[in-house]
Amino acid sequence: MRQQRVVVLTGAGISAESGLATFRDAGGLWEGHDPMVVATPEAFADDPDLVQRFYDERRAALGQVQPNAAHRALARLEDELGTNLYLVTQNIDDLHERAGSSRVHHMHGRLRAAWCTSCGERHEWTSPLIGEPPCPSCTSATLRPDVVWFGEVPYDMHAIHEALWACDLFVSIGTSGLVYPAAAFVHYAIGNGTRTLELNLDASDGSSDFHESRRGRATELVPAWVDELLDR
Ligand code: APR
Repeated sequence: MRQQRVVVLTGAGISAESGLATFRDAGGLWEGHDPMVVATPEAFADDPDLVQRFYDERRAALGQVQPNAAHRALARLEDELGTNLYLVTQNIDDLHERAGSSRVHHMHGRLRAAWCTSCGERHEWTSPLIGEPPCPSCTSATLRPDVVWFGEVPYDMHAIHEALWACDLFVSIGTSGLVYPAAAFVHYAIGNGTRTLELNLDASDGSSDFHESRRGRATELVPAWVDELLDR
């Protein structure tokens, strides 16, 4: 029997139990910061230091956290399914990779990467960007976080749509379903006759659109679901 092709979408909720704040939950990032002041190209043009400081703090915080059981379960699933698993994340942290996932599609970019707006090169980056460090390729002082801001086009959209079109199962983990285009993936999958499953702590904006929606913590729901899928 042909192995199932599975697309998994993750959001901030999968990293919450590792100690990284989500965006819209109580105590979330958007409670303390206005996204229009720290996460748009216009905001970066207006006050680059404010924006750089916001992402520098989040980049530094990555050193204090570890992947959790949900990240590790998805890495185990990748080992079993190989290229029949397509893992796309809205998260800019590197916890999927640190848990062992090797094919992670960061549709909103990555905190540990910098993008030079002069030469267009991208660089692995772990230190602060405030203070305008020179680009390792062209030496220009025009590095920005390699993160997709509001109003910008997410990465890998063509490949993501192809994967959604070809999959047998779409699973959404730890996302509020409020931000597009990720929030539309379930509709794309259903339009293709694909089975859909949501694993989330609370009801999301799209919960009623899924064939099945399970409530609970990612560190419990995801390992249990991976066991179930692999058993089957
Ligand atoms: N286990 C499972 N789900 C959880 C957990 C947990 N431990 N903790 C929180 N959640 C769920 C919440 O119920 C909520 O539905 O995770 C979701 C987090 O939602 P958001 O904070 O809105 O994060 P996300 O959906 O990833 O945001 C999408 O918005 O701000 C932009 O670019 C940013 O990628 C981000 C996008």
